[in-house]
Amino acid sequence: MRAAILGGTGHIGSYLTPRLVEAGLSVVNVSRSQRQPYRPHPAWREVQQVALDRAAEEKSGTFGEKIAQLEPDVVIDLTCYLLESAQLLVEALRGRISHFLHCGTIWVHGLAIETPAKEEQPREPLEEYGCRKAAIEAYLLQEARRNRFPATILHPGHLVGVGWTPINPVGNFNPTVFSDLARGEEVMLPNLGRECLHHVHADDVAQAFVASLAHWSSAVGESFHVVSPAALTLCGYARAVARWFGHEARLKFLPWEQWKETVSEKDAQITWGHIAHSSNCSIQKAQRLIRYQPRYTSLEAIRESVYDQLAGQCTMGNPGTGARK
Ligand SMILES: NC(=O)c1ccc[n+]([C@@H]2O[C@H](COP(=O)([O-])OP(=O)(O)OC[C@H]3O[C@@H](n4cnc5c(N)ncnc54)[C@H](OP(=O)(O)O)[C@@H]3O)[C@@H](O)[C@H]2O)c1
Repeated sequence: MRAAILGGTGHIGSYLTPRLVEAGLSVVNVSRSQRQPYRPHPAWREVQQVALDRAAEEKSGTFGEKIAQLEPDVVIDLTCYLLESAQLLVEALRGRISHFLHCGTIWVHGLAIETPAKEEQPREPLEEYGCRKAAIEAYLLQEARRNRFPATILHPGHLVGVGWTPINPVGNFNPTVFSDLARGEEVMLPNLGRECLHHVHADDVAQAFVASLAHWSSAVGESFHVVSPAALTLCGYARAVARWFGHEARLKFLPWEQWKETVSEKDAQITWGHIAHSSNCSIQKAQRLIRYQPRYTSLEAIRESVYDQLAGQCTMGNPGTGARK
């Protein structure tokens, strides 16, 4: 079986592309060839690389046909952010592939009525990215159910992996929050620190894509959350990180309007996105239908990434000392 992965060298692709090879697929990666995967793997030697700029090809109306000409059985789309992009690809691939997997996001959900949120919850996205992804999801599900287009949608949480900084306990990417907690320094949390973050290891996302292929008949026409077994509260997350380094976290709390003045505008904006969503999603459907079994809890995934980042920075303390789950 031949798989075309669109954007197979990024956060998810760095884990998924080698997994597809290991699963016995013949794999072609389509990207601009600007980025290298986050981690080396012998499987990359077997991956065919096709250099295409999706934006430019879509503009000239050639993207869909160029993907179809690769003659894939399966297309995994990690680079789709617009409804029109999904529509162009579906029209070009209709009747020519056996499975189409689109990468969505848990931010298709806005405020949850019940948590953990289930896939059936009506979509009420809060911002443009979530609105666009929700529109793509609705379109693909309709194509699957009305026109038998073999689409599956996977909605990852906040991606974690070795090589990049995970969303931190204040809900942004500023790595100093981890080093402050590691040194036992005071950290300020917004509000009461009770909002949630729902991370997932990128390798567990990769697992879910491969599991969707293996469970084709239950995956087609469905969307699935792909997150760790449980979300973290900001406060619980901060306390756990400090304990990895042998400290009790020294936390202070400030109402949002005051807290946002203590960080850069960019960090505040990213934090707001995460606490406004306060994501907490169920994986029961993915466990039941595609046998998704995440290997990492949120804290295990984050710890692996943080230890890797702090390795060699002796001022942070020794992450091996006092480490707990
Ligand atoms: N990051 C997260 O925390 C997160 C969370 C939930 C869902 N998601 C979803 O996950 C999917 C993949 O995200 P990611 O974080 O793995 O992506 P990423 O790390 O940004 O990787 C993007 C990939 O697409 C390629 N690419 C970028 N622009 C391109 C273009 N114009 N034409 C062709 N290829 C292009 C990149 O390679 P080149 O630069 O070499 O072209 C790379 O292989 C997205 O659909 C995103 O919405 C991400």
